[in-house]
Amino acid sequence: MMLRIAVLGCGRIGQMHAANVARHPRSKLAAVFDVNSEAAEKVAAAQGVKAAASAEEIFASDTVDAVLIATATPTHADYIEMAVAAGKAVLCEKPIDLSLARVEACAANIGDTKIPIQLGFNRRYDPGHSAARTAMLAGDIGELHQVIITSRDPALPPRAYLEAAGGLFRDMTIHDFDLARFMLGEEPTEVFALANALIDPALGKELDEVDSAMFILRTASGKQCHINNSRTAVYGYDQRVELIGSAGMLLSDNRKPHELRRFTSTAAEASQPYQFFFLERYQEAFMAEIDGFVDCVEKGAVPLASFEDGRRALILAEAAYKSMKEARLVRVSEVAA
Ligand SMILES: NC(=O)c1ccc[n+]([C@@H]2O[C@H](COP(=O)([O-])OP(=O)(O)OC[C@H]3O[C@@H](n4cnc5c(N)ncnc54)[C@H](O)[C@@H]3O)[C@@H](O)[C@H]2O)c1
Repeated sequence: MMLRIAVLGCGRIGQMHAANVARHPRSKLAAVFDVNSEAAEKVAAAQGVKAAASAEEIFASDTVDAVLIATATPTHADYIEMAVAAGKAVLCEKPIDLSLARVEACAANIGDTKIPIQLGFNRRYDPGHSAARTAMLAGDIGELHQVIITSRDPALPPRAYLEAAGGLFRDMTIHDFDLARFMLGEEPTEVFALANALIDPALGKELDEVDSAMFILRTASGKQCHINNSRTAVYGYDQRVELIGSAGMLLSDNRKPHELRRFTSTAAEASQPYQFFFLERYQEAFMAEIDGFVDCVEKGAVPLASFEDGRRALILAEAAYKSMKEARLVRVSEVAA
């Protein structure tokens, strides 16, 4: 059976999701919708499906089993609520919302629904990150002590993106807060954040935004995590996870388009730059995310990344923001129970 998924939002990531849903062996692209009808028509034509005239048309359709929400962040919570009311399963891009209050309201509105809701924390599905966690859980490094997450983008996004994104912590680091929880296996209870606009100082002055950040997290049992972010790593998209334990270290490393190395009079082992950005680096993860979603809907599997994971990651982002602003270590309990 093919899960009939409609994709809401045909922007940068929606286009990719629509193509992935269309080519996934266990899903079928049922329709697409975007308030920008030109964007929707373009994706619809590329995938040979219909562009719906409204989101309501998708939620009312009996040829749609599930929706993949890839619209602008401020629309996610509304669409989750509409999907649950219509009985459609949900795969929603991160973050659920920029406001913790809106996330809590959304949780209250959907109640303890049995409709599957999966969050777009694609990094949980990355083959390397996932293998590192599996090896750690199997005891390969003994007892886990530290998690180090390096997460650096290759280039600053356009100013318009930064104005709407909701800040580095809730837009970008939210992936790393989620990965930290996923790897630590315990809730962080304390957060310390240092951040500045080092790449583009105007971001700090004009948008109160930062582009370079370091975070320290600690769980109740004392496990530690360090997250390191930059919006511009000139050498490419740098995505590494280190798990350090009593019996060794696991490293999920960067990936290159291929493994050619050049040896010349000026350099040895010169290799390809890293895969450019998230669309390339996490392509397998985005496909595996759909696989997991189909399992949730058709086999009743528990989502690997749930609504609650989305809420918890946002709480860490809020605690980190408070830490940066107040220049002190913040207990997570200060921002949420
Ligand atoms: N998982 C990841 O790695 C990852 C990467 C990039 C973006 N994202 C998330 O995906 C979402 C979209 O990001 P993007 O980079 O594709 O943005 P984008 O601006 O390229 O696309 C967003 C699209 O949503 C459409 N839209 C806005 N309001 C709408 C509405 N009410 N109904 C239907 N369509 C609407 C816009 O017209 C636009 O085409 C964001 O929430 C972002 O945080 C996740």
